[in-house]
Amino acid sequence: MSGAKAVREDRLWQRHAEMAKLGGTPKGGVNRQALSPEDAAARNLLASWATARGFSIFTDAIGNLFVRRQGSDPGLAPVASGSHMDSQPTGGRFDGMYGVLAAFEALEALEDAGIQTRRPLMAVAWTNEEGSRFQPGAMGSAVFAGRFKLDDMLGVKDWEGVSLGEALAATLNAAPAPMLDAMTGFPLAGYVEAHIEQGPQLEAECKTIGVVTGIQGSRRYIVHIAGEEAHAGTTPRSARKDAFAAATRVATAMYEATTDQDDALRFTIGRVEVQPGSPNTVPGKASFTIDMRHPEDAVLDVMEKTLLEIVPVRAAPCSARTERVTNVAPTNFDRRVIELVREKAERLGLSHMDMPSGAGHDAMHIATLCPAGMIFVPCERGISHNEIENATPADLAAGTRVLVEVLLELANY
Ligand code: GLV
Ligand code: MN
Ligand code: MN
Repeated sequence: MSGAKAVREDRLWQRHAEMAKLGGTPKGGVNRQALSPEDAAARNLLASWATARGFSIFTDAIGNLFVRRQGSDPGLAPVASGSHMDSQPTGGRFDGMYGVLAAFEALEALEDAGIQTRRPLMAVAWTNEEGSRFQPGAMGSAVFAGRFKLDDMLGVKDWEGVSLGEALAATLNAAPAPMLDAMTGFPLAGYVEAHIEQGPQLEAECKTIGVVTGIQGSRRYIVHIAGEEAHAGTTPRSARKDAFAAATRVATAMYEATTDQDDALRFTIGRVEVQPGSPNTVPGKASFTIDMRHPEDAVLDVMEKTLLEIVPVRAAPCSARTERVTNVAPTNFDRRVIELVREKAERLGLSHMDMPSGAGHDAMHIATLCPAGMIFVPCERGISHNEIENATPADLAAGTRVLVEVLLELANY
């Protein structure tokens, strides 16, 4: 039996259903934020499936979880596939989880078909890809790739003040796995990540497989505004330093400045905090996050300059500062991996199209370490980062069949 034929659609779908119970929400989505008890439960479930199949598991210092299927030449660098198991606070069942379960299904399919690879194969669940609880996102893969420093990340705090180091220790305590000696990554011979598209193109074009050519650049910022707390009933508007009013002026100017003709620049203010958060106190502090993306770094450079200029001018008479949290350059995937994805989709008789990724993925960091690429499958109406996110069992299995065939090529190379 071929690797692709051994992929079991029913098993893959069932595993999604079981994972969806961990942090499951009444609307059918998941709230399984990074390094939460739900994340630990997902780690334990994956580990239990892995050990039942005779695969080994281990973790590293940032909590990335690796499932390893041995190769005939165990000394060779492994080929890896995976994604993330953490979710947005109101996330869907497939964002990230599909990539982990597709990778795991690939390992199981090869096991079922009795196919041995030269290189070891790994299914990976990277820590904190979403970056909604702990910023920045794609943290586990970035630490693995040496792009973020482990110590810096351990000190990052969530919105409640819990440090990542504390949450990681609690998670690894609840979901123990043998710890890798090295503090960060090890050599990989290749990396392929399967993911739902999270956008509408595949569905609109009636294609099953997205051959992902690269990922647009992304930057995140936090704008901090400081005013002065005052009594809401007695203080004239002219005498106030209202931090929230300043935030709205800054934000309005930014929305205008980032509106482009071809609608290519992505600009999102997704989290706003106002302090002290009392209805009858003029806010003394306000902060908001900015997520900005574009395929060209030069455009992001220009926009960043514009945003930085807007902040002090529009925030006055309050004071303000802008903190840049991340700057991830656009990624171009490896030509050979892109060709392999296209060729395997074609051979399997699956409709396909080349496309860039609008969303960020762990593959953008791993691509700096080894030849890397991605496989997209459609999701309903392109909706993601939403509890109603949906995909079909057939499309998930189709993407996994392509994945198995690409992994086989890379692992026997
Ligand atoms: C990942 O979820 C992203 O924000 O692109
Ligand atoms: Mn994702
Ligand atoms: Mn996501």
